[in-house]
Amino acid sequence: MDWKAVLENEVSLDPEDWEGAKARGRQMLDDLVEYLRHIGDEPVWRQPPREMKDFLHHTLQDSGQDPDLLYAQFKKYILPYPKGNIHPRFWSWVQGTGSLTAVYADMLASAMNSNLAIGDHAAMYVEQQVLDWCKSMLAYPKEASGIILSGGSMANITGLTIARNASDERIRSEGVGISGKPLVFYASEETHSCQQKAAEVLGIGSKGLRKIPVDDQYRMRIDLLEKQIEADLKKDCLPFCIVANVGTVNTGAIDPLEEIRQICHHHKIWFHVDGAFGALAKLLPEYQDSLKAMEQADSLAFDLHKWMYLPYEIGCLLVKDRQKHRDAFALQPHYLSSHERGLPAGPDPVGNYGLELSRGFKALKAWFCFQEYGLDKYRQIIRQNIAQCLYLADLVRNSDFLELLAPVPLNIVCFRFKVPGMDEEALNRLNKEILMRLHEEAVATPSYTILKGRYAIRVANVNHRSKKHDFDALVEGVVRIGRELMAAIKPG
Ligand SMILES: Cc1ncc(COP(=O)(O)O)c(C=O)c1O
Repeated sequence: MDWKAVLENEVSLDPEDWEGAKARGRQMLDDLVEYLRHIGDEPVWRQPPREMKDFLHHTLQDSGQDPDLLYAQFKKYILPYPKGNIHPRFWSWVQGTGSLTAVYADMLASAMNSNLAIGDHAAMYVEQQVLDWCKSMLAYPKEASGIILSGGSMANITGLTIARNASDERIRSEGVGISGKPLVFYASEETHSCQQKAAEVLGIGSKGLRKIPVDDQYRMRIDLLEKQIEADLKKDCLPFCIVANVGTVNTGAIDPLEEIRQICHHHKIWFHVDGAFGALAKLLPEYQDSLKAMEQADSLAFDLHKWMYLPYEIGCLLVKDRQKHRDAFALQPHYLSSHERGLPAGPDPVGNYGLELSRGFKALKAWFCFQEYGLDKYRQIIRQNIAQCLYLADLVRNSDFLELLAPVPLNIVCFRFKVPGMDEEALNRLNKEILMRLHEEAVATPSYTILKGRYAIRVANVNHRSKKHDFDALVEGVVRIGRELMAAIKPG
């Protein structure tokens, strides 16, 4: 390489035309604010057209492109086809809505481009402050440690890693087989699939996750949990953790927390709570008592991109025993060692508390939103989401054409179009067809699940933009489409 010649012509990625770049940025921001302001006038979902899919197959060129052209392409091919979870009639899976303040915060965080692995810089302290706020919101012990992660799956696998390693301090060096006893942990049949993924990735194996049957409210059966633990102990297995759900993904069920806590205490095993969205109900005084035992969880996983309405991605894990948390991950090679002064000083590197080293400044959007909106506003909207679900459940109960398929303990409603005398398989096909048409006609985008073999139209409401009339529209749409389909089957 002729390095002298290369250095004659040094370049960077900063704009050559700073004023032009500023004007473009302003335009983008103006467009986005208007877009969000009128998002309810857009269809909740548009099927991505062939033209768009073809466009997104073009090859990358060696030379740079005109940024105005790229922005025009974004507006034509990308922006009109969002997933829809910014729309008031979106209730699929459990996907949050985001907010404008968080858009600004993400922009600021992206400009700072802080990496939160290590160092004495503001982002590290912002994250600690957000974690402290999370602890106080959930009445979790002040001395607990925590980490901001990409979401609930990462928070759960991180919690289970700590639980696994806490069961035997040799595991980090010797591996999971060191005790000679198979490690096993427990969760209800309704637990999220990320627990099974964690079991597989952590070397426990999917069979090591004992899925405990549920009662008619979709809560873990404590009698069967106890039986399973006894059976495992007899087989010389090593039970290391029980995962309690606060808000199951299918129906929002809350497992019997206090009983699970006591069983964990009795057997000296880790008490982990997956409260991906449900943990945030703790903000409401009316859930304080029923979620009391959550305060004593050894680890508590939850998302901020669900029921705290932050844009993707941001989740959180809190851990009662800071030392055990650190013991599971701490590793500081020379190039990551902390110093007394200078940039490598500052808080304990976050790399000591999780799998990831480089992490973005996700905490900033939480820092802005929590303060700008205030906890009272969050309480109001979380309560509103639950009330909307009770309203929807009432509409379903009062309809001659619909039936509820599960209780509504939180913010999830599962129901279906019913046809007296129709067999279950045909009903399942019918309801699946109704769901797909609801999406295609852009009436609304609920999602789906199977409960006791029955296909359910499922509304998971973590949407701060939904209003009562949006649920009226959903019910009208389901009934209309269901009746149209029935009329087509039985003409006249
Ligand atoms: C109960 C529960 N746990 C875990 C997860 C996984 O969270 P994430 O999608 O943020 O990884 C979800 C997602 O909906 C969930 O509902």
